Amino acid sequence: MLRTHTCGELKIADAGKKVTLSGWVQRSRDLGGMTFIDLRDRYGITQLVFNMEVNPTLCQEARQLGREYVVSIEGHVTERSNKNLKMPTGEIEITVEKFTVLNVSKTPPFTIEDNTDGGDELRMKYRYLDLRRNINKTNLELRHKMSVETRNYLSDQQFLEVETPYLIKSTPEGARDFVVPSRMNPGQFYALPQSPQTFKQLLMVAGYDRYFQIVRCFRDEDLRADRQPEFTQIDCEMSFVTRDDILDTFEGLAKHLFKKIKNIDIHDFPRMSYDEAMTRYGSDKPDIRFGMEFVELNALVKGKDFKVFDDAELVVGICVKDCATYTRKQLDELTDFVRKPQVGANGMVYVKYNEDGSFTSSVSKFYTDHDFVAIAHAMGAHENDLMLLLAGNAEKTRKALCELRLEMGNRLGLRLNDDYKPLWVIDFPLLEWDEDSQRFYAKHHPFTAPKPEDIPLLDTNPIAIKANAYDLVINGVEIGGGSIRIHNKELQKKMFEILGFTDEDAQNQFGFLMNAFEYGAPPHGGIAFGFDRFCAVFGGSDSIRDYIAFPKNNSGRDVMIDSPSEISQQQLGELAIRVVSS
Ligand code: AMO
Repeated sequence: MLRTHTCGELKIADAGKKVTLSGWVQRSRDLGGMTFIDLRDRYGITQLVFNMEVNPTLCQEARQLGREYVVSIEGHVTERSNKNLKMPTGEIEITVEKFTVLNVSKTPPFTIEDNTDGGDELRMKYRYLDLRRNINKTNLELRHKMSVETRNYLSDQQFLEVETPYLIKSTPEGARDFVVPSRMNPGQFYALPQSPQTFKQLLMVAGYDRYFQIVRCFRDEDLRADRQPEFTQIDCEMSFVTRDDILDTFEGLAKHLFKKIKNIDIHDFPRMSYDEAMTRYGSDKPDIRFGMEFVELNALVKGKDFKVFDDAELVVGICVKDCATYTRKQLDELTDFVRKPQVGANGMVYVKYNEDGSFTSSVSKFYTDHDFVAIAHAMGAHENDLMLLLAGNAEKTRKALCELRLEMGNRLGLRLNDDYKPLWVIDFPLLEWDEDSQRFYAKHHPFTAPKPEDIPLLDTNPIAIKANAYDLVINGVEIGGGSIRIHNKELQKKMFEILGFTDEDAQNQFGFLMNAFEYGAPPHGGIAFGFDRFCAVFGGSDSIRDYIAFPKNNSGRDVMIDSPSEISQQQLGELAIRVVSS
């Protein structure tokens, strides 16, 4: 046997036992007569000791062991004279009697330590070494527990896990498809699923009633910290349910995960309409861990000869508590922040409500103290508070103020990782109008049902239609989204028509689904959670990469295996693909 125990389990109660351990050399220290080696495996670290006086040959050999060598040792568990109570195995060490080198290792290109000296790209290239670090181990363990608990909960609720195909036909979820050429059908391509949306609906038509799948999805879109080209969803669908049945069921899943994994009881899952979220927070995924809600000020600030406000569609502000003492430099930093292209404001107006009751403002030329009192009143500001105002086109200004609010939340330490505030955002618009292509897009996807009372608007005012769609947001992250679906062929046809599909296109692309609706499709709806995002939020990180064993970098590359890469002329030939150089 190459081991009787792991490197994380031996305690003082094991003193005197003869053991065999196997693992990697984390570090070694020579202290004259003694050599100490930290031996590491997935479960922890155990200190090994070699005594020069007792066994000089073995000790000399141990001194030759390099970092990351793989060794198997035999010895006795002994109580340490110098205990390290911070380590689970810190009260003991192994007095080694014999060891075997199972494999040697080159010196790793970065240290396998919590505070490593390796940069991002280097660690991605040697991901198998990076994965040896504790932080990554903890993250993958969290992911494993999340998937086990998800399966437990959903199975207990009669959900059936069904696998759906990866080689399919395009499903429009708003991104581009990754395509796979078909050798047997020259000139034709499969698309990898952006989600199993149509298949899970077909499973409902087939009578499967409660489906789930922890499933890989593929989207060719610009990458960010919370997006990967291949990512995992907890994908679910239910028949014979209302929206509230779905929200209750999945609130249950979230509560179960919080309890089992973080031992936190979450009772409150408020629901807020999309319109309200946009007005109060300027975002459809508001972080409600802190206040600083938007206050619209048009009625108070217009008509005072300040052209920027007079010309603006919307003047809106936030009140930052206890920050009236912000310096010129701090305010300039905030102005620079809102002017960044990704934030997009032209400038920022501040009003300080000073401790002595006076006001200092970048627009005091245009407004009297009387005006400022009215503004402060509307914004719930008191002495020592700072008011920050933005103005311009309503949509852009809300977006910019949303960014500023989050920035202030970060600066003031109001976005605490271990404070969890979920929120359902409901009643999304069904459609979005795109100016460039002069057509409607489905805000969620084309299978989402309009709210029944809004169906007549399909012919008169489509943009005003609200969808029976919902998102689960936790701490400002969109964790999941879903909707009640259309299950009627005529309505689905109408939807494709509004989205600019010809009858022929709709039939070609989605005929299979509309035909299925003619064979007794039950009313149904569902949701999909971004599993990587769920894990990242539980782990207190913004980056989903840290929770994926082998992620892609920001250019969509796997730098370890060097993919994507060119393929041979022969392979291209078999696939009937000709590369035309530009
Ligand atoms: P949607 O497109 O909103 O809905 O996706 C559901 C959830 O998946 C996560 N997500 C991503 N995570 C990582 N990287 C990405 N590129 C990425 N894109 C999306 C998000 C998102 O909330 N079929 C519908 C669901 C349904 O209607 O039931 C769908 O896929 O957390």
